[in-house]
Amino acid sequence: MLNRSSETLQFFRAWLSDPLRVAAVTPSGRALAALIVSEVSAETGPILELGPGTGVFTRALLARGVAEEKLALIEFGSEFAAKLNADFPRAKTLCMDAARLRSVELFDDTPAGAVISGLPLLSMPPRTVYSILEGAFAHLRTNGAFYQFTYGPRCPVSRPLLDRLGLKATYLGGTFANVPPAAVYRIQRRKILRIAEIRVRPTADNP
Ligand SMILES: C[S@@+](CC[C@H](N)C(=O)[O-])C[C@H]1O[C@@H](n2cnc3c(N)ncnc32)[C@H](O)[C@@H]1O
Repeated sequence: MLNRSSETLQFFRAWLSDPLRVAAVTPSGRALAALIVSEVSAETGPILELGPGTGVFTRALLARGVAEEKLALIEFGSEFAAKLNADFPRAKTLCMDAARLRSVELFDDTPAGAVISGLPLLSMPPRTVYSILEGAFAHLRTNGAFYQFTYGPRCPVSRPLLDRLGLKATYLGGTFANVPPAAVYRIQRRKILRIAEIRVRPTADNP
């Protein structure tokens, strides 16, 4: 396992070779890692992590009690995937584009409880963001949640895209103890109201 400063150097080198994919010059800090995993625990079930990089969020997941074998790490960069494989040998590390998630089998068809995403969605075309979310939600159980961080002032998934996929985004919190400051959003399926749940206002004919 590399120490913190060699991880920072590895991350910086990866950014130099592919700035659009890596999209940050340094790995996320501990405060952001703690925030993005704050709602998951050992009871969440299998968890997918997208764009783990050097594994800052992965280590925070383990610290929350999540078992390593319940993690699938989806990382496009071969330099990061090799390190993740070495550091977390019991997790399932896949070196692949997260936009192709729909076609892979994970956790023997047990649906995941959460997705933790460090992907740079703001630098991706809307069609790619659509494929990533569609694929991720195909692996998530009905009440599962997708956690995404951003350096931007609002949710990095646009409202029309959320509407198209039947999703809603909720601001979970932000931290200034990160370079740069960042915020986390929870993205979930919208609840579909069943007819029986719609309360009809009583009338004289229908008290
Ligand atoms: C901003 S870095 C975040 C890394 C780490 N989660 C952190 O917070 O320090 C973005 C990560 O997403 C990965 N990535 C970018 N595009 C990807 C894609 N299409 N599929 C999978 N991983 C991708 C990059 O290689 C990089 O590891």
